Amino acid sequence: MSHGSGPRPATARKSADLRGSIRIPGDKSISHRALMLGGLAGGETRITGLLEGADVLATGRAMQAMGARIRKEGNTFVVDGVGNGALLAPEAPLDFGNAGTGCRLVMGLAGVYDFDTTFVGDASLSRRPMARVLDPLREMGVQVRAAAGDRLPVTLRGPKTPTPIAYRVPVASAQAKSAVLLAGLNAPGITTVVEPVMTRDHTERMLQAFGAALSVETEISGVRTIRLEGRGKLIGQEIDVPGDPSSAAFPLVAALIVPGSDITITSVLMNPTRTGLILTLQEMGGDIEVIDSSQVGGEDVADLRVRHSELSGVTVPEERAASMIDEYPALAIAAAFAEGRTVMTGLDELRVKESDRLAAIAAGLTLNGVECEEKASSLLVRGRRDGKGLGNAAGASVKTHLDHRIAMSFLVLGLASEHPVTVDNVSMIATSFPGFMDLMAGLGASIA
Ligand code: S3P
Repeated sequence: MSHGSGPRPATARKSADLRGSIRIPGDKSISHRALMLGGLAGGETRITGLLEGADVLATGRAMQAMGARIRKEGNTFVVDGVGNGALLAPEAPLDFGNAGTGCRLVMGLAGVYDFDTTFVGDASLSRRPMARVLDPLREMGVQVRAAAGDRLPVTLRGPKTPTPIAYRVPVASAQAKSAVLLAGLNAPGITTVVEPVMTRDHTERMLQAFGAALSVETEISGVRTIRLEGRGKLIGQEIDVPGDPSSAAFPLVAALIVPGSDITITSVLMNPTRTGLILTLQEMGGDIEVIDSSQVGGEDVADLRVRHSELSGVTVPEERAASMIDEYPALAIAAAFAEGRTVMTGLDELRVKESDRLAAIAAGLTLNGVECEEKASSLLVRGRRDGKGLGNAAGASVKTHLDHRIAMSFLVLGLASEHPVTVDNVSMIATSFPGFMDLMAGLGASIA
């Protein structure tokens, strides 16, 4: 996809209390998987609440290129799948734009087929490591052609019969785990994935819902063993996608730091592998009330009432990292408005996200007068509750490096800082959170 006609800067200014009730767009992880499994399963899958962000739409186009039919009826996406094992060879390279999840998961899904599939993406995605997916695929018999360092563009060709493997995921990555499981769908026999640290489990849940023979065993130590029987039948489902907690993070932190704020965010996914930020902010003294909890399509969902709070710095336990891996940029902003130090460790994976997020956060904080210390895999932030002196008096802008979450985080910083905050490019926000600006403006945020 294209990201518009060049960089689009924006500036956030100190705002009066944020108020109102909002629903944020659908969860990105679930949306990708819904289109993939819907496109693969036999029969019809009906999806409501799908995130219509650029990342997810790229996955939809990839599935169409391999034979799935996707149409929209009102607010429902209707997917006619090809049937497990029956994907067609795409005629052109699959372009995933900025989307690591779409790209890596489809590498697993399609890479084991006995045809050529080529994967391309934007400058950010082309810098990201793909070995975590390509290595297990090689073990399954897939031929790989890749740019230096196992980066995009990548061309995959599966063998006549892929080998089911037993694979221990070497990094805490739901994408790597999911790619192996999706590849296992087309391998005869049992594919086993061992996950030392639990990551988001949407792939496992959704595969089971579509009828795959998948079991999970969890040791007392937390190590999970996932077994999937390949070449089984998958049957189309109805999926209602809850709101994305990783997007909710931005209005949530904004309400905590802007004095007088009181907002409600409805229908947020509360899967325990995704709630690390909420827990951490509550530990910091954040007034976040979880109301109206319910179950939607096998996932926990709730409304969140968030009020401005006097935050205090905390040390975030390292073992929580996987359950809030996309939320550290937003947490760093909350930490900038907390009394005392906030310490975050175990952040190695932040170096290989849409940008080197650890470096981008530290650079942005420093530019805006927030004291911080960046180390190889940790970040320490010294906060200022009142926002005095924060923001960018000198008028330079925060570098977002084609990273949607860096852009949204620093706009949120500007809402409670003494001085305005400008970010160099907001066009990437549409990859995960279309309508972010309007939704924030509706709460009373001053961003233009
Ligand atoms: C995702 C997994 C995480 C996360 C990404 C979405 C997924 O990536 O950062 O935004 O949907 O599986 P990693 O697997 O690289 O940790």
